[in-house]
Amino acid sequence: MKKKLKLKKIKFIPVNTPVIFKEDKKNVNICLKTNWLSSEGNFVKEFEKKFSKYNNRKYGIAVSSGTAALEISLKSLNIKKGSEVIIPAFSIISTALCVVKLGLKPILVDSDLKNWNMIPNDIIKKINKRTKAIIITHIYGFPVDMNNVLKIAKQKKIKIVEDAAEMIGQKYKNKNCGSFGDVSTFSFYANKHITTGEGGMILTNDRKINLKCKSLRNLCFGIGKKRFNHDDIGWNYRMSNIQAAIGCGQLKNISWILKRKRGIGKRYHSQLKNNPKIIIQNLKTTYAKNIFWVFGVLLKEKLKISRDEVVSKLNRYGIQTRNFFYPMNKQNALKKFKVFNKKEVYPNAEYLSAKGFYLPSGLGTKNYEIDYICKILNRIVS
Ligand SMILES: Cc1ncc(COP(=O)(O)O)c(C=O)c1O
Repeated sequence: MKKKLKLKKIKFIPVNTPVIFKEDKKNVNICLKTNWLSSEGNFVKEFEKKFSKYNNRKYGIAVSSGTAALEISLKSLNIKKGSEVIIPAFSIISTALCVVKLGLKPILVDSDLKNWNMIPNDIIKKINKRTKAIIITHIYGFPVDMNNVLKIAKQKKIKIVEDAAEMIGQKYKNKNCGSFGDVSTFSFYANKHITTGEGGMILTNDRKINLKCKSLRNLCFGIGKKRFNHDDIGWNYRMSNIQAAIGCGQLKNISWILKRKRGIGKRYHSQLKNNPKIIIQNLKTTYAKNIFWVFGVLLKEKLKISRDEVVSKLNRYGIQTRNFFYPMNKQNALKKFKVFNKKEVYPNAEYLSAKGFYLPSGLGTKNYEIDYICKILNRIVS
């Protein structure tokens, strides 16, 4: 019989705890004092300018979420209905929604179990005459090893939407993630490296894409006297001045944020790396250092204990977790589109989805909480 763990029980450790900086509060107070609350305020422009500069891109378009950023970005590329867009089988549903909502066909690519990202060679194999765009989505810790994909896409005039929602501040071979796509997207949801509560950003170097994205996020208002005669079907996906005020404060602290996130990752890594029953990500690959958006854990395939049992035991110790994404080919919401080839299988995406979960890894997660979580996890899965 296993001995009972002698640990002082911690009541509750949330899967994410954000950190609010003094600069965020100061900026929000400026909004409140000056009455500039809506997207017309100066913080929106400042955040767009500073965030695009940080990522070495010409234009930034602040929006209401990472999902909105994907929808606007893909629509800005003006792709003919029925064309194919390559996406990962393992990602948030937003990656597929932007495709099917535009009447385009998502083509799925399985994940590499070494880094949980799209397999670059499989992306290349799925390219054909109907392929008009690829959504390169970087998942959890590492960027997609995308050099060859970018080269081939350029040769074949296929557009790249780079989804860097989870990769703020991450580099791929010394260049920032989010600076590779024809158009790139970010999320500032509360669990991202930089948060505005809810929010997103689009970056591009292309003047036309910039103008189209700006118009699409703002209902495609007409110009001048024709303001209320709208040019196209757009959305109200604007970011408020208050959100951007927080974003500006957060961006000032990006060096500390990246250091702390990597510190959290390393602390988990050092205490879990010797557990033979689980798989965790490496600290680095040949092309990137893990940014640890979240600290993911994958149970080995043939374990007796299921992911649900592990998670529910952790929950009983007050440790909140989140399961990994659900594979696109199995999503209820996408079934009615009948876009996926039933004969195609995505075993790695399905394995990640069935056996993976992530541990509390927000910026506010404390070292003693990490140590407690590791002790308990090593005990439960031993
Ligand atoms: C890879 C990826 N893309 C897009 C999104 C969507 O961002 P949001 O939640 O801001 O809509 C997320 C959210 O976590 C994500 O992980």
